[in-house]
Amino acid sequence: MWFLKWTEIIVKEFGHPTRSVAGWLISKLLTVCNRVLEENTVQLCGIRPEDTVLELGHGPGHGLQSAAKLLTEPRGRLIGVDYSAYMHQMASDRMKDFVASGKVTLYHCDVEAMPLADSVVDKVFHCNCYYFWSDLEKGATEIHRVMKPGGLMVTTLRLSNWPQEPYMTALRDSGFTDVRMEDKQHKNITFQAIYATASK
Ligand SMILES: C[S@@+](CC[C@H](N)C(=O)[O-])C[C@H]1O[C@@H](n2cnc3c(N)ncnc32)[C@H](O)[C@@H]1O
Repeated sequence: MWFLKWTEIIVKEFGHPTRSVAGWLISKLLTVCNRVLEENTVQLCGIRPEDTVLELGHGPGHGLQSAAKLLTEPRGRLIGVDYSAYMHQMASDRMKDFVASGKVTLYHCDVEAMPLADSVVDKVFHCNCYYFWSDLEKGATEIHRVMKPGGLMVTTLRLSNWPQEPYMTALRDSGFTDVRMEDKQHKNITFQAIYATASK
């Protein structure tokens, strides 16, 4: 019985880590297990030094750290959103120098309602995140709204048996084109990458 209760708590915490023992454990697990995935995802985006880049559901912030280093032009900007207050705080601490300089802006908000203007983002990436969205189409439409025409989004996941079709369909229905998935391997990790272009 206690085992089932803990399994339920852990699954819930993966989707929305809270400031708690379980949330702290999840943050450690995400760091150990997903850091390489986050770094690989950043590489797949083909970030240019002057780009405006957005990470969705950044968790502890390791992907933000990798992306920020590539935005070496003064115009280059990085935005992160996560609806977990605990993850927002953890990432804000990790990125505090970049945030103070104005290079990075982090929002505590839902992917489905981001405080961003239309057509401002060149590249979007997210890892292990869309499974938790309450409405895939609403999320996809909101991302499409904030992206510049021709902008690229890279989604990565490490759950090959998780259904990808509903997500890919939501992307196509929201105006993304060239939506395709590739299997990837990096050292000992296997993951899937979904690419999508924001056509407008
Ligand atoms: C499984 S964790 C993955 C964290 C990180 N991307 C990684 O791979 O280590 C999912 C993250 O997405 C965030 N998240 C899930 N759904 C969200 C939504 N609708 N809006 C904003 N953040 C969301 C959660 O709070 C959590 O930090």
